[in-house]
Amino acid sequence: MNVKAFIERKIEDIQKTAGGQKTISALSGGVDSSACTVLAARAIGSNLKCIFIDDGLMREGEPEQVRLIFRELGIKVDVVNAQREFFSALKGKTDPEEKRKAFRHKFYSVFGREVFKSRAGFLVQGTIKADILETKGGVKTQHNILEQIGIDPEKGYGFKVIEPLKDLYKDEVRIVAKALGLPEEIYLRMPFPGPGLATRVVGEVTPPRVAVVRKATQIVEEEIARLRPFQAFAVLLNDQGTGVEKGTRKFGDIIIIRSVESKNALTAKATRVPWAVLERIAKRIVKEMPQVTRVAYELTPKPPATIEYI
Ligand code: XMP
Repeated sequence: MNVKAFIERKIEDIQKTAGGQKTISALSGGVDSSACTVLAARAIGSNLKCIFIDDGLMREGEPEQVRLIFRELGIKVDVVNAQREFFSALKGKTDPEEKRKAFRHKFYSVFGREVFKSRAGFLVQGTIKADILETKGGVKTQHNILEQIGIDPEKGYGFKVIEPLKDLYKDEVRIVAKALGLPEEIYLRMPFPGPGLATRVVGEVTPPRVAVVRKATQIVEEEIARLRPFQAFAVLLNDQGTGVEKGTRKFGDIIIIRSVESKNALTAKATRVPWAVLERIAKRIVKEMPQVTRVAYELTPKPPATIEYI
């Protein structure tokens, strides 16, 4: 891929498609939507309105960090706090596909509202090739593949979607993001799914359960980051494990550590994390999170397992 030519072509395409009309960028802070946002900002300048939906399912400090990084790049980000709406849409749902569906519908209704408020004609979003392939292959319905999930944004929401990166794989998007001048924190960022921490909470997604997985994820990321895995995170199971504290039995949460190596997320295998690092993570989690009694490391490759839990 000739990166410079790709960038120039995409900027021209966006100008041709959306030129003169207000366009919204759905920024999540991941490498895909960040690269998309910079492309769109270069293409249409002040006609771009960049929106970050704070769904309450982000990692620790993420909304503020993203806002600051983009401020450095001269791109203003409007943070829309929709936490309560997302949690109420997810309330009582335990089935993985139902959770995905509830997230997706909330995502597009919140976005639809923002697009409508701004009278925007277009939504630019960071769909990449793997998202499309996995949804077509029936692995799961990614939150952003509209035609596959029967949403017609033009009819239902009144805007058209622009997906400049839909022919690229993650590793190619990273190259584009770097060439666009995004900082290392973004272009080397681990993939983070659209439905956020909801994909890592087995069972019902509630604010306290998300807080548990968020804190455990922070510990996993801090300890594993320098190994630069493709993706590393924590998962909260929907069961209790027995523990012992001061001679008394107690029941607490079970956390799975998942770290995988992959090129394009279509296949993956467990990272060979040094034992000492795994032990340190387990010790930190039970010490800093007294509600957790068990920590396990997952070895399953993809396939047969997927990377995320829903
Ligand atoms: P799975 O779990 O299918 O994940 O092996 C493959 C890659 O995709 C990410 N992922 C998503 N990304 N929206 C996204 O933007 C989604 O709904 C979604 N689900 C999974 C996952 O983190 C992994 O990198």
